[in-house]
Amino acid sequence: MKTLLGLDIGSHSIKLIEIATSGGVPQLLAAGSIPTPPKALQSSLEADHQAVAMAIKQLMKETGAKSTSVVLALPESQVFTRVIEVPPLSPRELSSAISWEAEQYIPLPLDQVNLDYSILRDAKETGTDKMDVLLVACPKTLLEKYLAIIELAELVPVAAETEIIATARALSRSVAGIKGASLLVSLGAQTTDLAILRNGVLAFTRSISAGGEALSRALVSGLDFNVNQAEEFKRTYGLEKDKLQGKIVTAVKPIMDTIIGEMKRALAFYIEKHKDEKVEVTLLSGGTAKLPGMVVYIAQSIGMEAQLANPWVGIKRDPRFAVLDKEGPTFTVAVGLALRES
Ligand SMILES: Nc1ncnc2c1ncn2[C@@H]1O[C@H](COP(=O)(O)OP(=O)(O)OP(=O)(O)O)[C@@H](O)[C@H]1O
Ligand SMILES: [Mg+2]
Repeated sequence: MKTLLGLDIGSHSIKLIEIATSGGVPQLLAAGSIPTPPKALQSSLEADHQAVAMAIKQLMKETGAKSTSVVLALPESQVFTRVIEVPPLSPRELSSAISWEAEQYIPLPLDQVNLDYSILRDAKETGTDKMDVLLVACPKTLLEKYLAIIELAELVPVAAETEIIATARALSRSVAGIKGASLLVSLGAQTTDLAILRNGVLAFTRSISAGGEALSRALVSGLDFNVNQAEEFKRTYGLEKDKLQGKIVTAVKPIMDTIIGEMKRALAFYIEKHKDEKVEVTLLSGGTAKLPGMVVYIAQSIGMEAQLANPWVGIKRDPRFAVLDKEGPTFTVAVGLALRES
């Protein structure tokens, strides 16, 4: 039996999931979340890293998680992830050509990043004379910071991957029965990450800096609320147009327009490239997906079926975890991380 922790250190909260896999069946052992110490992640001070590590230790205690092997999420907004097209090359040719390819796409000097790549579809699968390769470049300083935190938390890192890659793994079982592609949208506190998933394989990724905090800020400035009121009104009334004479929806509309605009661009990009295919469904994850009315608002805005993400599909769970049913969107990244070696 193999047991792994999935640790998603978000700007708003830290999510922890422990999953054991035996005979190919994953089973949930522990789950929980704790607020992220304010501003600690932007800092490079040891004391701030220590504060995050203490929160992780506290979360380990509260959830009763026993494993020490952890798969980490790296913030999508600070990691460069892109699906690129390259000529058909053998694995060995690709490994020597990749840094030249990467130089064209990555806005940082290559000696300052950890570069990783994997072949998503070879030329036979794309049906063209190109293959799709997933390129991931993480600034070394970012990885070092996360590893320092993990060490302070007395855990052992086994892998790190971006939030959207973990999201894709967590939701691949829910979309397994869908014929066309699906749009995954992870609505967090500071960022919204998007991906198009096709037959369980990433075809597109993007991250934008708009999320739940921007929605709350729009209520502070648009409706003269203080921060706590804004958060409360947001969670109570959300995007339901008939609440408070539609004032909340009006105030947050510019932020929602940015998010919806990016979703439409992703869809247009995909359809342009795959003319005979269809994106069937949008799955919404992240804490901000729980905003009342969000699913309907997005479905209407993009003219496509939308659902809340359910990462629990195919995972054995004790009845004591039933409270997590509606928390699926929040734990999607952490579940995907913990399933990495399942
Ligand atoms: N029930 C709810 N209704 C509306 N918004 C909610 C609800 N629950 C949480 N949120 C919002 O979700 C956000 C937190 O979500 P999440 O935990 O996914 O963020 P995070 O992973 O810490 O952030 P990021 O990934 O952007 O760093 C906050 O902005 C919070 O206001
Ligand atoms: Mg997040």
